[in-house]
Amino acid sequence: CGSSSDSGSGGSGGSGDITMGFAQVGAESGWRTANTKSIQASAKDAGIKLKFSDAQQKQENQIKAIRSYIQQKVDVIAFSPVVETGWDTVLQEAKRAKIPVILTDRAVDSSDKSLYKTFLGSDFVLEGNKAGQWVVDNAATNDVNKDGKINVVEIQGTTGAAPAIDRKKGFEDKISADPKIKVVASQTGDFTRDGGKKVMEAFLKSQKDIDVVFAHNDDEGLGAIEAIEAAGLKPGTDIKIVTIDAVKDGMTALSEGKINYIVECNPLLGPQLMDLAKKVVAGEDVPARVETKEGEFDQEQAKAVLADRQY
Ligand code: AHR
Repeated sequence: CGSSSDSGSGGSGGSGDITMGFAQVGAESGWRTANTKSIQASAKDAGIKLKFSDAQQKQENQIKAIRSYIQQKVDVIAFSPVVETGWDTVLQEAKRAKIPVILTDRAVDSSDKSLYKTFLGSDFVLEGNKAGQWVVDNAATNDVNKDGKINVVEIQGTTGAAPAIDRKKGFEDKISADPKIKVVASQTGDFTRDGGKKVMEAFLKSQKDIDVVFAHNDDEGLGAIEAIEAAGLKPGTDIKIVTIDAVKDGMTALSEGKINYIVECNPLLGPQLMDLAKKVVAGEDVPARVETKEGEFDQEQAKAVLADRQY
């Protein structure tokens, strides 16, 4: 079962007494830890009382947490849905209770857009596009064995999660431009380091010629590095690695030459979330979609920014 906590004092300053119930996915990755810290710190700064729960990557725990926030009559509910589908019933309950809902980080797949006020987060298809474009643009060096074929193994995020679905699609859309590039194996690593390691160990046994690993997040890529090194190969050289997130551990591996390219996904959503929360509680209009701006890094760029990286 999930865990929950209350923090923040609320009610200070000009924000009135706003209580937010936040149902977090879990603590599966470095990205998620940074995201949780950002939300907790920003709530405090904004004078918003935060009720926080960790669903340990289980949808049923998130649904329970949202129902309990409805019962407690919080002013606003925010959550990052672990998977895309299966939310309509609980979101209808929130709507009936007149509690506005904000989606952060991940979207839901629902035809009823009246079930939430706004969605704040990254464009995951674009992130997959950027990773795929890097594989295409660096085809010559990515063909490690120089056999005219670029065999990619993909370590997917959590099955059914928006970032896993969208990054896969975005990546495939770009690599389809070059018939030399093929995804020869694809498995979920559940966005965790341990998952990435296990999946990579299996790939190294089942695939003879792996040129590139596309990991849906840094943690999975870091797990893959461990598996590659244990197999006596050099990550970043014998097998190229492209990941998404750009958290400190990922950027460190990139600057050390163990990862080749990282597409950024910004976890610091707290300040924008608190602004949106104040507006929806006040009944103000907010844009239906608020997109996070992000970049990408090669090994030299990682070295240049590493010291200043906050997370
Ligand atoms: O939803 C964002 C993704 O979830 C991040 O890329 C990943 O690290 C996290 O677990």
